[in-house]
Amino acid sequence: MNARVATRLVLGIDVGGSSIKAGLVDVGSGRVSGQLIAAPTPAPSTPLAVTQMISALAAQLPGSAGRVGVAFPSVIKGGSAYTAANIDPSWIGTDGAALAEQTLGRPVLFLNDADAAGIAEMRFGSGRDCAGTVIMLTFGTGIGSALFTGGRLFPNTEFGHLPMSGRDAEKWASARVRTAEGLDFPAWVARVNEYLAAMHRLFWPDVFILGGAVSERFTEFAPLLQSPAELRPAHFAGQAGVVGAALAAIEPAA
Ligand code: BGC
Repeated sequence: MNARVATRLVLGIDVGGSSIKAGLVDVGSGRVSGQLIAAPTPAPSTPLAVTQMISALAAQLPGSAGRVGVAFPSVIKGGSAYTAANIDPSWIGTDGAALAEQTLGRPVLFLNDADAAGIAEMRFGSGRDCAGTVIMLTFGTGIGSALFTGGRLFPNTEFGHLPMSGRDAEKWASARVRTAEGLDFPAWVARVNEYLAAMHRLFWPDVFILGGAVSERFTEFAPLLQSPAELRPAHFAGQAGVVGAALAAIEPAA
């Protein structure tokens, strides 16, 4: 048989503390087709301003089908945001999926950004062969987390808020803190190692996948990292949220 499977392009959007990224994702391969586009996150990042930016980015990427996936930096249940650590507090209680559906005129799936990144890594990236317990951590403006066991996601873990040295872990060891405090890799990785040790004591993962834009420099700091679990760099780095949001959007509605 010479069956040709048509490429299915799904629009994925990743709302971050500093930028909003969008791309058309070939959900059969997990690859971004064409350009990943981005715009600065509006300030203040209110629901209306962010949704208008999502809509402006979507208009530049025609050709997708089905639901749009939106990765968002909050606990998300039933399309609504329940927390707002790195986004305007007026998001709390907002049904982001309904708002984006109105603006885009299309069905939308909203999910936590680190959960989206983890889905991308587990399907097509660094975690694709991992059946055990995997924790994906994204180091960016905050620290995002996604927990998988047997390939299944336990959604909305907020491990970036684990207390470390009297602060939330993300206020102590995120990529933003590394830059803000001018930490070199040895100083930053010492904190990351302590954080990984605390996480390991609690969850005993087989694998940690380390993501976020800083993971593009993994080879520079990898020799300093320590953990009893296997440590892997994220495959998708800065694209993971966009890819994972699109992959989540094709799942049957929960
Ligand atoms: C938020 C998480 C989010 C992470 C990464 C944290 O501050 O509480 O929901 O996944 O930042 O954006």
